[in-house]
Amino acid sequence: MSEANVMEKIVSLCKRRGFVYPASEIYGGLNGFWDYGPLGVLLKNNIRDSWWRNMVECPPIAPDGHPVDMVGIDTAIIQNPKTWVASGHVGGFSDPMADDKKTNQRFRADHAYGVFVEGYTSSERSVYIVGGGNFGLAATIVGSSLGEAIAFLEQSPRQVPTAPGQEAFREAALLPEDQWFTLNHTLEVKLKSGKRVRAFVQPLQSHKLLENEKTAQQVPSPFSGQFDLTEARQFNLMLSSDIGAVDPIKAYLRPETAQGIFLQYKNVVDTTRVKMPFGVAQIGKSFRNEVTPRNFIFRSREFEQMEMEWFCHPDEARKWYEFWKAERMKWWRSLGVAESNLRFRDHEQDELSHYSKMTVDIEYKYPFTAPDFGELEGIAHRGCFDLTQHQQHSGQRLDYFDQELQLKLKEQGASDEDVKAKSRYIPNVIEPASGLTRAVLVLLCESYAEDASRPSPVYMKFDPKMAPIKAGIFPLVNKEGMPEVAEKLYMDLRTKFMCEYDPKQSIGKRYARMDEIGTPFCFTIDGQTLQDQTVTVRERDSLKQERIGIDKVMAFLTERLI
Ligand code: GAP
Repeated sequence: MSEANVMEKIVSLCKRRGFVYPASEIYGGLNGFWDYGPLGVLLKNNIRDSWWRNMVECPPIAPDGHPVDMVGIDTAIIQNPKTWVASGHVGGFSDPMADDKKTNQRFRADHAYGVFVEGYTSSERSVYIVGGGNFGLAATIVGSSLGEAIAFLEQSPRQVPTAPGQEAFREAALLPEDQWFTLNHTLEVKLKSGKRVRAFVQPLQSHKLLENEKTAQQVPSPFSGQFDLTEARQFNLMLSSDIGAVDPIKAYLRPETAQGIFLQYKNVVDTTRVKMPFGVAQIGKSFRNEVTPRNFIFRSREFEQMEMEWFCHPDEARKWYEFWKAERMKWWRSLGVAESNLRFRDHEQDELSHYSKMTVDIEYKYPFTAPDFGELEGIAHRGCFDLTQHQQHSGQRLDYFDQELQLKLKEQGASDEDVKAKSRYIPNVIEPASGLTRAVLVLLCESYAEDASRPSPVYMKFDPKMAPIKAGIFPLVNKEGMPEVAEKLYMDLRTKFMCEYDPKQSIGKRYARMDEIGTPFCFTIDGQTLQDQTVTVRERDSLKQERIGIDKVMAFLTERLI
């Protein structure tokens, strides 16, 4: 089964079982917008609650053995527009885009991958030769990852528009790693004539071909194959709205929740008992006018973020960067995500956001990026960029007087000048920023499993704590006193856990339904229950069934879910 097929099956299951629906579907939908159905919202809330608990209610233990200082906040989606000038988003929050001049189709230049074919010659254009080897750019593919671009070439080679003068592709297959051309993913491509050549796929960005009008002319359009592309131009990603009825002002829907935290940083310091270092956490909606929303809910135009800004002394920022890196990876693992599907990736200098001194991504191996990984969370060292900017633009002092550090330095005999210089500062910020809706996608991908021998050939093996429905409660038959006992058990369990009572259909069909939505436990009341007060517990993953006392069911679930 190909990875692209897996994605199609996940999307279809999500619709069929009420996890995720296309937004405004009856009007044809709206690209980049999704609605979360009854099960999807439960799954999303479980992830959200786990993050909030781990970050705010029961935050991690600092290296000094005490819990870190953390508070939560919930700020407005629309802020004074000056916010976004100060934060750099009006000037610099953009993606590079190139257009096909003939078809007017548009794509993200940093999501364009070149197919470099061995022995490529074009009579019409100068050929870009890679690394001095005999490989030339024959086609362009748009995808949000290298894995996606390779998968497209493998699955739909005939749909890849090759450049004029270049033979169309017929087949393509990724070669085993030991046959790769240096470090590139190398494919064998069969051309229309039957001739076989080698090809590899590489980000076009790294060749800088779309950077100016002249070299952009050497790149075949991903839509037509013709040499008719504009150079890449920056396109601002913020969505705007008009506020007020008289002389409306242009305001922006926030592209990140982080700025609300920076704007309230001083109020938090003045009105709570937090002391440096401390964190402020927020979960909420963000909006970006993404050029190419794609891959289901991976990149959408409306999404939810879970962000925490950790304020600390500049000298300690590196230490806390490492601390949050480790903590965040631990949390993803606690949701049941396999270690082998997660990795860290440091940002190259030229991909850092305008505010960042250094960033590391936690990446996940999505079906559409495999064998590569894609972004799940970014952990950024924002230095003092944001507070300095807001201090300058608002005229309000946002520095911090560190009384404890002042006392400590005095005790250590530091000079007055040193004490003064070091104990008043603009804090540095370490920011773990993740997508809540992207986390939903990760758990859907991670949990999706197929087994033709089971009652439901497809099942979702969510970690029990994340599962939307924790237990199904069934009378074996809908008569003979069983429904009454089952309903009583359900009425009891529902006070603590999200449960479903289902008296209808065959027991096999009910189990299958629960498996497909990832319910970890089912309790069945049968004839024996009426005699000895025991029920059957069926465990989703192992399919094991055992009998336990009906009075032990609550404890059974509590032990596994809390
Ligand atoms: N405050 C920093 C910040 O916003 P980011 O890397 O742009 O950093 C953080 O976003 C996280 O938000 C990403 O790692 C991703 O999980 C999520 N995210 C960003 N854009 C998204 C989109 N268009 N759709 C879904 N999730 C998105």
